[in-house]
Amino acid sequence: MGHLIELKDIYKIYHMGEETVHALDGINLTVDQGEFVAIVGSSGSGKSTAMNIIGCLDVPTSGTYHLGGIDVSTMEDDQQAEIRNKMLGFIFQQYNLIPKLTVQENVELPLLYAGVSAEERRERAIQSLERVGLADKRKNLPSQLSGGQQQRVSIARA
Ligand SMILES: Nc1ncnc2c1ncn2[C@@H]1O[C@H](COP(=O)(O)OP(=O)(O)OP(=O)(O)O)[C@@H](O)[C@H]1O
Ligand SMILES: [Mg+2]
Repeated sequence: MGHLIELKDIYKIYHMGEETVHALDGINLTVDQGEFVAIVGSSGSGKSTAMNIIGCLDVPTSGTYHLGGIDVSTMEDDQQAEIRNKMLGFIFQQYNLIPKLTVQENVELPLLYAGVSAEERRERAIQSLERVGLADKRKNLPSQLSGGQQQRVSIARA
């Protein structure tokens, strides 16, 4: 099997009136299954731009991006949304938990969007909460958790 993530010669150019910003200038990156990768660099060097493309939240100006063998570099919004739902998990710096939903309902949300049955959602959410040590908090609201616990809920959801 090929690489899980494969970026080839990726450019991202922003046009701001007369000015053009070369946020990404021909980057190449491969990530294989099971690899842990950190992107580091000075402020403004293009990390978030790259992460937005890798996360299928944005498309490059040019270059190709294969995710799990699928060319995702030229997708429309709703195709990207489907790929994000099925293949990607996001742990945001702000955890973006829905305040009115319980911990378990928050974890179930991507499965709800994916059309998974109520019973399977419940099972998978509880399993995933067990893995981060929070099954006993599943009926709490996010506001009733510590910061670290909220972060673990967002990990379980991802
Ligand atoms: N929507 C945009 N329009 C124009 N220029 C942009 C846009 N988004 C980002 N840029 C520019 O692209 C470059 C890369 O930005 P990016 O956000 O990827 O940097 P970063 O590495 O994540 O920085 P930081 O560490 O500060 O978060 C910067 O020069 C930024 O000003
Ligand atoms: Mg950034």
